[in-house]
Amino acid sequence: MRIDIITVVPDLLEGPFSHSILKRAEEKGLAKVRIHNIRDYSSGKQKQVDDYAFGGGAGMVMMIEPIAKCIEALKSERDYDEVIYMTPDGETFNQPMANELSLKGNIIILCGHYKGVDERIRQKWITREISIGDYVLSGGELAAAVVADAIIRLLPGVLNDETSALTDSFQDGLLAPPVYTRPAEYDGMKVPDILLSGHQSKIDSWRFEASVRRTKERRPDLLEGNEFQGDLKFE
Ligand code: 6GU
Repeated sequence: MRIDIITVVPDLLEGPFSHSILKRAEEKGLAKVRIHNIRDYSSGKQKQVDDYAFGGGAGMVMMIEPIAKCIEALKSERDYDEVIYMTPDGETFNQPMANELSLKGNIIILCGHYKGVDERIRQKWITREISIGDYVLSGGELAAAVVADAIIRLLPGVLNDETSALTDSFQDGLLAPPVYTRPAEYDGMKVPDILLSGHQSKIDSWRFEASVRRTKERRPDLLEGNEFQGDLKFE
């Protein structure tokens, strides 16, 4: 999979992709992330990428031309499945969207900055608009990093233990159960006996019950219309 990210602040994005899981995905050839500076596509001597809003008001608007040139340059090199615009008024990102996007081949992610991009960019080039939640960030870059991370870790071979993405919170509509590691007792606090029992099917059902309980307590909204609403054995 290839992800091309278009931004006016490339520095904000270099960090997340040069560490840990994302770096390994790149080294293994499973994901290619390329960051493009919109300023490199600006023709003016000042390398201008934003301008005042028609109709007045505070805040600058990202101009069409540099973004259009960047998108067209990328599109001339390969086909893209989606051209995503990161914006607080987009569709709220969630795990099913991450799963869906992880099946794509090539995607472009355009990061909004200032007051956003000229509306005509959205009309002509954008296939999908994504927000990461109901709060406002100074730009789409951190949101793009969130989306790219959520997608890349799902690609087969990226995680060491292939099953571990399947047991993430949200992957089955439930929050993940609590986890423990050594020591079995710390300052009087004990790990639940069942996890030390070696009885795998009992451990699996304990984890499932713990997931349902945690979801009921913290995110009852996730259980609406869910088959797991029923009684808890250990309640
Ligand atoms: Cl995608 N961009 C900005 N600027 N703020 C956000 C966002 C995106 N998602 C949530 N808040």
